[in-house]
Amino acid sequence: MSGRIPKHFIDDLLTRVDIVDLIDSHVPLKKTGANYVARCPFHSEKTPSFSVNRNKQFFHCFGCGASGNAIGFLMDFSHLDFVEAVEDLATFAGVDVVREAVDFKGTTQKPENISDQYQLLEQVAAYYVKCLRTDEAGKKAVSYLKSRGVNDDCAKEFMLGYAPDEWQALANRFDQNQLIQAGLLIDKDGRAYDRFRGRVMYPIRDKRGRIVGFGGRVLDDSMPKYLNSPETPVFQKGKEVYGLFELLRKEAKPKRILIVEGYMDVIALAGSGIHYSVATLGTATSQAHLDLLFRFSSELVFCFDGDKAGRDAAWRAMESAFGALKDGRQVRIMLLPQNHDPDSLVREEGAEGFAERVQQSQPLSDYFFSTLASDLKLDEMEGRSQLINKAKPYLERLPLSVFRDMMFVRLNELTRSSLLDVSGNPARLNPKSIGNRPHERRLPSLPRLIIALLVQHPELISKVEQKEIIWDGLEFSGIQLFRDILAVVLRIKPANTAVLLEHYRNHPDEKIIKDLASLGLLTSGQNVEAEGVENEFSDALDRLLAQAREACLDGLLAKGKDNGLNQDEKELLRKLLVIKHSGAI
Ligand code: UTP
Ligand code: MN
Repeated sequence: MSGRIPKHFIDDLLTRVDIVDLIDSHVPLKKTGANYVARCPFHSEKTPSFSVNRNKQFFHCFGCGASGNAIGFLMDFSHLDFVEAVEDLATFAGVDVVREAVDFKGTTQKPENISDQYQLLEQVAAYYVKCLRTDEAGKKAVSYLKSRGVNDDCAKEFMLGYAPDEWQALANRFDQNQLIQAGLLIDKDGRAYDRFRGRVMYPIRDKRGRIVGFGGRVLDDSMPKYLNSPETPVFQKGKEVYGLFELLRKEAKPKRILIVEGYMDVIALAGSGIHYSVATLGTATSQAHLDLLFRFSSELVFCFDGDKAGRDAAWRAMESAFGALKDGRQVRIMLLPQNHDPDSLVREEGAEGFAERVQQSQPLSDYFFSTLASDLKLDEMEGRSQLINKAKPYLERLPLSVFRDMMFVRLNELTRSSLLDVSGNPARLNPKSIGNRPHERRLPSLPRLIIALLVQHPELISKVEQKEIIWDGLEFSGIQLFRDILAVVLRIKPANTAVLLEHYRNHPDEKIIKDLASLGLLTSGQNVEAEGVENEFSDALDRLLAQAREACLDGLLAKGKDNGLNQDEKELLRKLLVIKHSGAI
């Protein structure tokens, strides 16, 4: 594992790159006024509503609402996670990603060796392909693959190879230390030998096509049937799936992705024309797997054997799915007939028959309730109360969404009760608990203008500092947000909006800050002079502060008449009167 990327590196990177150049290299942009526009890459449209602003280093689509900085663009456009997007952006900027130092447990791996590892894995895969295709010994493997119905195109597509049945095939050809780090050599008492011998080799590629590890199968019934690369700095089984790169090469945005158990299942399905499957690597389906796959498709179908082990595995996979099920994401469960795996089934029924079964797979909601209820008597009160108790902990893990609400409604229907409201709270105690989520704040126009100007021009902080504002007793809507942003801007001194936004990534206020960053202000489209912005901001802030002080003053005067003021309030009243009479606003 490599160390964390320091925050200052990310801020510097966002200051150094130009989002206009970055986006233009993926989606050609046209200049109109102060902005650059294009047809939005995130939804389909005929007229351009996607706009990129160089000053803010920010993009926004008026059509679908997508917005963000350069990192956000790469995450969305190239389906990358945060770290990958930073790495890509660094490559674009021509700089190396800086990482904090960490200990590498059990290996002498240093981060700068990572690219050597990828290179080595690539060379080893090519060597295995050569062994399969041109070596005498590879013929056995070729006939094995043929006997399993793997055609040549498929073998090429998945870069299948053969590891010769020798102890030192790799050891004699590549750097031993690197091979050990890549998990390809086993080092036993100072004697190193090849991990994979006499096996058909399946290179495992990450979503960008880099080889990260291998699986290897024996050609007969000997054990163990499959061997996989161990975890290495570039390979984590809980995060990778087999076949994703090959799938995405055929279809960047598949309608659905089928999750199966074995290498040969993926290959057989692809060979019969069902190219949208991936396999976990001998591990349970993790939430990281699901998050990865949901970036490419909104529908995942879990495909498991119909036997007890398969049903247990389906249940475990579904458990990891609960946390990932935001609105718009769907999971379906497909159980296969006894004694079949996808490989054998697609050969027996053909692609059409198999696709038909995919169509008929059960939605997670049905599967969940029918499995839970299968050994309960729902015509008895006891059974129904057990169902509530069993289901509730799962449903509570669902992210807030319409789907979650509907699952609670379904539970109420099944149990013929109204014990739970749609948020899973006991209904009578808390009848109205949705609709007041913190980020749905609506700001009136003046504070909105001021905060938006500050977000879009963080340098305006100097104007705020000049005013030496006395905050005591001041109230206006959005004041907390405004003061939070002021504090952040003072602390991190962002060079532009993009850097400020980066600070709010995954913060509860992220959405509102993005909305403010995309707000069209002033004479939008024209290149407003810096001085114009400063004056506009300064005037608006003065007006808002004056209103707030006036309101505070009125409140204090009224209270003075009724109950008298305490010492602090008297002092505040005095200060406010001085400000008012000094003519300053
Ligand atoms: P299966 O035993 O179901 O294999 O294991 P399969 O894919 O049907 O194999 P074939 O058809 O006989 O070739 C499913 C997956 O579990 C992992 C592998 O990832 C395999 O693809 N596995 C299985 C291992 O890691 N080691 C093993 O010994 C067996
Ligand atoms: Mn099989």
